[in-house]
Amino acid sequence: MSVLLTGGLGYIGSHTAVELLEDGKQVVVIDNLSNSNIDVADKIKKIVGSRCAENLKVYIGDVRDKKILDKIFTEEHIDSVIHFAGLKAVGESVQKPVEYYDNNLTSTLVLLNTMKHFNVKNFVFSSSATVYGRAKSMPIYEDFEIGATNPYGQTKLFIEQILKDLYLSDNSYNIAILRYFNPIGAHDSGLIGEDPNGIPNNLMPYISKVATGKLECLSVFGNDYDTHDGTGVRDYIHVVDLAKGHLKALNKLKTNCGLKIYNLGTGVGYSVLDIVNAYNKVCGGKVKYKIAPRRPGDIDICYANADKAYKEMGWKAERDLEDMCKTSWNFENKNTKR
Ligand code: NAD
Ligand code: UFG
Repeated sequence: MSVLLTGGLGYIGSHTAVELLEDGKQVVVIDNLSNSNIDVADKIKKIVGSRCAENLKVYIGDVRDKKILDKIFTEEHIDSVIHFAGLKAVGESVQKPVEYYDNNLTSTLVLLNTMKHFNVKNFVFSSSATVYGRAKSMPIYEDFEIGATNPYGQTKLFIEQILKDLYLSDNSYNIAILRYFNPIGAHDSGLIGEDPNGIPNNLMPYISKVATGKLECLSVFGNDYDTHDGTGVRDYIHVVDLAKGHLKALNKLKTNCGLKIYNLGTGVGYSVLDIVNAYNKVCGGKVKYKIAPRRPGDIDICYANADKAYKEMGWKAERDLEDMCKTSWNFENKNTKR
């Protein structure tokens, strides 16, 4: 039996493909390459070695395309799906709401309809800490109120609701909603990592490009937040730890767990300046920064309580901030196209 990874050539999907293949699973990927590159398939194969590489099959296509999904579910023996595919830039979602609603919601509906048709009922969904908006206190627990402030976040909320309704209608589904905090870092091989097109929106890829001299200087968005050094605090999690969380989630689904929601974070908050300082230790002080005004829409602080994932799935993050910075720096040096 195979696991279908939609968006499996993207940042989190590719790391998850590696973990699943190394665990001996058969992996089928569908990706439309809108934010990834076909080379990633070969890199995944290189990392896992020839024996496991045989268990990877890649389809280039769009999850909204019912025909290609029908073909995949007919040709492959899919028993579980991890749904990574989606557009993910908060700012862009405000500019292009229709594209975001179409891509993220339509892909999910076409996928769920196809799964229903083929009687596949194990589903893992990539949700986000963004669904907590401005949480009332820290750390954030799964039962906190949810809400969204932008179209991207709305798509995550809508999809979570669709999955809850689906489960209510048929409790033979097993569904894991994984709310990721801030994934950073790269695979130890330096072959796969995060390489966004154009100027990065997110902190870590921006820092990496300043460290290599591709960008001049990091703007630190605000130093007057109510945090230990005034800069924004987030729960940064190594992407390999996050990827391993998906393997645990698939195991959980096999216990007929019903619908579960888990925070995937470390439980530790670091500020922007903590990240800059940690990165400077591994790259030799190349990250120049200046303090800039707050970025509209940003919150001051956000970190998880991830105990539920540990108690119920046996998963916890293991890699530290130094490791996150070292692997990002290694990836940036070895790999990036720009
Ligand atoms: P990514 O952009 O690197 O990966 C997404 C992949 O999906 C890309 O390879 C893209 O080409 C593909 N894709 C997009 N739309 C598609 C479609 N309609 N059909 C087929 N393929 C499609 O993003 P990522 O960082 O790996 O994120 C994966 C998932 O996790 C997304 O759903 C994202 O919203 C969610 N998430 C990401 C973060 C983060 O900070 N990276 C945080 C929380 C949640
Ligand atoms: N930051 C800077 N300068 C930059 C970029 C970011 O100072 O050039 C700061 C931000 O102000 C924030 C922190 O770095 O304090 C982290 O910002 P990111 O853009 O890296 O991440 P966010 O926490 O804003 O959001 C990300 C994803 C969301 C997701 C959320 C939780 O972009 O989609 O993590 O998973 F919902």
